[in-house]
Amino acid sequence: MTAAPPQIRKIAHPDFTKDLDITQDELLVLLDLATGVKREPRLYSSCLAGRSIALLFEKPSLRTRMTFELAIQQLGGFSILNDGPIGSREPLKDVARNLDRWVSAIVTRTFLQKTVDDLAKWSKVPVVNALSDTWHPCQALADMQTLREHFGSLRGLRLAFVGDGNNVAQSLMLCAARLGIDFVLANPPRYDANAAIIAEAQAIAAANGATVTVTHDPAEAARGAHAIYTDVWASMGAENEAAERRTAFADYQVDEDLFSKAAPNAVFLHCLPAKRGEEVTDAVIESPRSVVFDQAENRLHAQKALLLMMLS
Ligand code: CP
Ligand code: NVA
Repeated sequence: MTAAPPQIRKIAHPDFTKDLDITQDELLVLLDLATGVKREPRLYSSCLAGRSIALLFEKPSLRTRMTFELAIQQLGGFSILNDGPIGSREPLKDVARNLDRWVSAIVTRTFLQKTVDDLAKWSKVPVVNALSDTWHPCQALADMQTLREHFGSLRGLRLAFVGDGNNVAQSLMLCAARLGIDFVLANPPRYDANAAIIAEAQAIAAANGATVTVTHDPAEAARGAHAIYTDVWASMGAENEAAERRTAFADYQVDEDLFSKAAPNAVFLHCLPAKRGEEVTDAVIESPRSVVFDQAENRLHAQKALLLMMLS
């Protein structure tokens, strides 16, 4: 006989449209649960029995789509996918009010954050942000799980993000700040993270005995870091800027020289997909200190924990 799953704490906020929709306390519980479901997946294999979840993706995906589909299936639920623009064939508010009659939750990848927010506004079922131009909160959960597995604890680590002040960087800085990680962003001029988000992350960090700093100097960010993170220079939707971004970001590549400035036990992170030879060299991403596939693996476990805490 399979043992009953442990009691699962419900997240108070109905949606996960952004990192701060879960409380700091819920984040800690979620990370513990992610470890638990990774260790003993069978304990949770029927927690979503009879539940269907819709995936609405406006942008391509390998990791996010597959790990959500697998997470739902491995928790005993069922997923259905709709690819393409949301709210172009009919008003978004109608899409939301159709879906909430059929499914238990909506997982969505969008261009505009407003699309995620409007789906959450109009739908009676929970909405999960699977990446927007502003946030990538599910990625940050898996990244925190990965760092904690690797270092044993998070408080006091120094995490450097070298590259674009984009959705991945913005979610990471908030999560890091909440978990007592010192976060440093090194981005080229004109490719800053949102100033209000930086200010919010700095206030959260201060309350947790940590710091969030921003620089244009990649070496300064890398110095003594326990982890160096980067992401593509041109995100989905900004492909037409790729050439000008290659010039602007030329000094921001994570290569062996930059990586050597980090702590001796530092790891390399990337959300993937990566463009080798642009934001990272092949030598760094393929080095034994690269944990990019651990991050990808943990997408599955962290998202299972998220769905369990939202829907159980
Ligand atoms: N990291 C990530 O979100 O990958 P996909 O774009 O393949 O989902
Ligand atoms: N910043 C990237 C992340 C991809 C997972 C993008 O938005 O395209």
